[in-house]
Amino acid sequence: MSNYIAGQTVHEKYGGVIPELASRAHMQNIVPVVDTALAAAGCDLSAVDAIAFTQAPGLIGALLVGTQFAKSLSLALDKPLIAVHHMQAHVLANLIGEDKPDFPFLCLTVSGGHTQIVLCESPLKMKVIGETIDDAAGEAFDKSAKLLGLPYPGGPLIDKYAKLGDPNRFKFTEPQIAGLDFSFSGLKTSILYFLKNAGASNVYKEEFLVDEVTRQQFIKDNLNDICASIQSRIVSILLNKLKKAVKETGVKDICIAGGVSANSGLRTSLTVMGKENGWRTFIPAFEYCTDNAAMIAIAGYYKFLTKDFAELSINPSARAEW
Ligand SMILES: Nc1ncnc2c1ncn2[C@@H]1O[C@H](COP(=O)(O)OP(=O)(O)OP(=O)(O)O)[C@@H](O)[C@H]1O
Ligand SMILES: [Mg+2]
Repeated sequence: MSNYIAGQTVHEKYGGVIPELASRAHMQNIVPVVDTALAAAGCDLSAVDAIAFTQAPGLIGALLVGTQFAKSLSLALDKPLIAVHHMQAHVLANLIGEDKPDFPFLCLTVSGGHTQIVLCESPLKMKVIGETIDDAAGEAFDKSAKLLGLPYPGGPLIDKYAKLGDPNRFKFTEPQIAGLDFSFSGLKTSILYFLKNAGASNVYKEEFLVDEVTRQQFIKDNLNDICASIQSRIVSILLNKLKKAVKETGVKDICIAGGVSANSGLRTSLTVMGKENGWRTFIPAFEYCTDNAAMIAIAGYYKFLTKDFAELSINPSARAEW
């Protein structure tokens, strides 16, 4: 009924999320966020049937704040408590709204901390069939952006400049990883040397290394084309594996989830690839791609239907099994 988000700008000047600052900001935000969400929904807590919260995975300090708050609310209101797996919730964001995939479907989850291909057989039965062995797709965007001197998080900025550039101007190598797993760390190294060599080579070459002024000028003169070329490579790494997953499973209802699914290059290429291959593709509305409360609510809804409630003794966990 409402989906309210409190962003945290406190991390921007550090170039990444500082866990301790994230927990403190959660402490400050959690009561006002709940009040605002209830006001926007036009109801009070008596209308709520259950309290769903992210139990895992994530930054433990932030998870502790949410878990303690949800437990307190559940105890005080005498309403059931529902523990949600954050990555399953990202997948289930595709079931919000009218245009939904049929089961089984495949979901490419691409976020700040994860890159996974998930085979989803029912709302609560999912299996990770491929994942990154090093960086996540969001990290690949953010770390590339950092090398270009762009502020954190750089993913949306790469997307913005890529729209104005030529994706075929520069070539970054595609890693050869077996099966359905992904790797992005080689791409980062290749971009690092590409910039250190002002575009002359993607690998370490003593004779091409340039000084800082030349490097900055090269970036400035070619920013749009560099961003378009990086984005096109990240997207092709993702979609080539997705294509392989469709071939292996025979499943043709395809979804995407996670913050990187906001990327315009990925959205367009997925739609085109879907049309070419006879897939039905589903892309969640923008506000359900990055972290949001509605995805936790829909995951909570399915658990509510099966009365899958948590005990008040439950603890959060930084890592989570599926
Ligand atoms: N338009 C875009 N293009 C590319 N990347 C984007 C875009 N918009 C957001 N991102 C990236 O999405 C990531 C954030 O996504 P999200 O909020 O889902 O991650 P997270 O919740 O921190 O990670 P996780 O869910 O794995 O714990 C960042 O890396 C950000 O750069
Ligand atoms: Mg997330």
